[in-house]
Amino acid sequence: MSVSKTVTLPGGAKIPSVGCGTWTVWEAPPGAVCEAVKAAIAEGYRHIDCAWAYANEHEVGEGIEAKIKDGTVARGDLFVTTKLWDTAHRRGAVTEQLKKALVNLKLDYLDLYLIHWPTSLKEGDENFPQDENGKHIFAFHDLLDTWKGMEDAVDAGLAKNIGISNFNSQQVQRVIDGARIKPCNIQIEVNPFFSNVKLIDFCRERGLTVTAYAPFGNPNRPWKKSDDPLLFEQPILKEIAAAKGKTPAQVCLRFLLQRGLAIVPKSVTPSRIKENFQLFDFELSEAEMKQLFSLNRDFRVYEQDITIDHPEYPFKIPF
Ligand SMILES: NC(=O)c1ccc[n+]([C@@H]2O[C@H](COP(=O)([O-])OP(=O)(O)OC[C@H]3O[C@@H](n4cnc5c(N)ncnc54)[C@H](OP(=O)(O)O)[C@@H]3O)[C@@H](O)[C@H]2O)c1
Repeated sequence: MSVSKTVTLPGGAKIPSVGCGTWTVWEAPPGAVCEAVKAAIAEGYRHIDCAWAYANEHEVGEGIEAKIKDGTVARGDLFVTTKLWDTAHRRGAVTEQLKKALVNLKLDYLDLYLIHWPTSLKEGDENFPQDENGKHIFAFHDLLDTWKGMEDAVDAGLAKNIGISNFNSQQVQRVIDGARIKPCNIQIEVNPFFSNVKLIDFCRERGLTVTAYAPFGNPNRPWKKSDDPLLFEQPILKEIAAAKGKTPAQVCLRFLLQRGLAIVPKSVTPSRIKENFQLFDFELSEAEMKQLFSLNRDFRVYEQDITIDHPEYPFKIPF
């Protein structure tokens, strides 16, 4: 099965299907993300996935600026996404934060702006506001009010496309029902341990494209438990990889591409940045796809415990 190098949004814009993830909070020294973005663009990546909450948009911006200045790309060649953080869910705060993000990224528009999570935190300079007991301080904004702020960003020419991330099916439906501009993309966790089939089908039936985050289930996450399953050690994955002359990581990514998803693997390692982009010279058969689907165990690595008591916490229903 051949796969497209782009995923087409309902409005006709195309997301390059392989993007460069940039969430490196705990493992990258200062400067590493900038270097990773430069290496990714040099390698051929044209889609960069960022977020306010990663606190490194300025480094991503430096990397993009360097590759535009050295003539490797023009702004129009790139598809840049960033995400609205939970502390800016008030309608008026949405474009305020976006304008700051654009300064960080050294851009004058975004290709895609996403609401990062449906849960809101107290507005202010702190990304993770806590009370004196260390409990995160919630805010309560109607999702549709936040969505109106996203629509304002389109009207102001600051974002070409808008979407959501980590919403459950009911939240997706609420936004669709109340939207003037429908969400065109949802970014959610998808990897062989978390196939997320029902939510993907639900969103596609309603016209949203889907981006898979944590395509490897982030094997180096600091909160990994000793008995968590290890994706790259799965015999099925290793056997398919050996048969194709590819790595388990490449098989994971190809599996997602063949499902029609955009993907945003993250690496700050030049050899892996290259490896994660070499996905178009092999194919998985239907039988191999089936074997990879069989690895699903509904094992989610991003549970966002800090907002588990928030009324909009998304993971309390099956999908
Ligand atoms: N919307 C959301 O809420 C959300 C949540 C999570 C993530 N995301 C996005 O999705 C991106 C990817 O997710 P993620 O960063 O959590 O996890 P991931 O891409 O599944 O895994 C990243 C980890 O895998 C390692 N790695 C990368 N390529 C590899 C390869 N070919 N072989 C072996 N190991 C490899 C990386 O190490 P090195 O870097 O050391 O090479 C890093 O430790 C993020 O960066 C972010 O842009 C979005």
